[in-house]
Amino acid sequence: VYNNIANLTNTSPSELLEGFKSMLIADDDGLSQLANASSTIYQLMTDLNWAGFYLYKHGQLVLGPFQGKPACIRIPLDKGVCGKAAREKHSVRVDDVHLFPGHIACDAASRSELVVPLVKKGALLGVIDLDSPNLARFSSSDQAFVEQLAEQVVELVHWNHLYLG
Ligand code: SME
Repeated sequence: VYNNIANLTNTSPSELLEGFKSMLIADDDGLSQLANASSTIYQLMTDLNWAGFYLYKHGQLVLGPFQGKPACIRIPLDKGVCGKAAREKHSVRVDDVHLFPGHIACDAASRSELVVPLVKKGALLGVIDLDSPNLARFSSSDQAFVEQLAEQVVELVHWNHLYLG
């Protein structure tokens, strides 16, 4: 399933989830797992211009593996869509980032955004951040799907191989 994940237009969300899990368990190196996870999400969802991870380190979000243009490296928890999702430990979906006070524009093309926190036993590990050049790109079912991906990332990534000090 993983090998086909880039052209899965007729694949159900549950099959996509299975493919995502197969990709994650292929190795136990945390950095490599996150790198392939960012690529897989970028390939399987349409109309994205950025997909990746920010990891929670020293009270801030710090840029992790991603696909898209170079992005800001550090995001304080009181800033941006990512900071809000991290602070509140729940997903934030923004239909028009121009209307979100404090949005951090890493790529001027971004118009809508979905951020899903990664939380393990109540502890914040980081966030998944998805950006789209389209207004209102992310539906509530997209959110539910990415939340399922996030659960697998939390469970299957070898976080102890990443520096999260
Ligand atoms: N837009 C995000 C910052 C990260 S970039 O989109 C990759 C935010 O407002 O938190």
